[in-house]
Amino acid sequence: MEKEKIVIGSDHAGYRLKEVIKKYLNETGYDYEDIGMYDEEASDYPQIAHKLAKLVSTSQYKRGILICGTGVGMCICANKTKGIRAVVCSDTTSAKFSRAHNDTNVLCLGQRIIGEYTAKEICKVWLETEFEARRHSKRVLMIEP
Ligand code: RB5
Repeated sequence: MEKEKIVIGSDHAGYRLKEVIKKYLNETGYDYEDIGMYDEEASDYPQIAHKLAKLVSTSQYKRGILICGTGVGMCICANKTKGIRAVVCSDTTSAKFSRAHNDTNVLCLGQRIIGEYTAKEICKVWLETEFEARRHSKRVLMIEP
C-alpha cells in the first residue's frame, strides 16, 4: 500500500533534525514535501508553522511534521489554525496516544530537546498509530470552541 505524503518544515533551530527526519521518511517509504527553511540562517518559526498548518487544514496533506528548537513555538502557532491538532512530543507514549485518542495531525519536535534516535522513534510511532475513533471521536469534535 502506498504511504501518505508528509509535509515537513522547520526553522533554523530545527533544520538539522529535519534533515535527519527526511532521510528517515525516505528510508521508510514515506514521500514528503519540505516547505523550508533550507539552512541554519536565523528565521521566524511562526512563518513555517502557519504555512504548514494551512496546507494540512486545507487537506493538501493529511499530516505534517514541524521542528524548531523546542517544538513549543511551532506547536503554539500550528494550533491557531482551525482543524489543526498539533502536539509537541519528547516521548513515544505521548506520540502514540496523541494519535490514538486525539487524532493529532501535526507532530512538533525540538532539536534542542531530544536526540536523533528518539526523534525517529517518535516519528515512527506517530506515523504508524491510527486514530481509535469510537468514544474519542465525539471528544475530538468538541475540541474546536
Ligand atoms: C529559536 O531560537 C527558537 O526560539 C525556536 O526554534 C523555538 O524553539 C521556539 O519555540
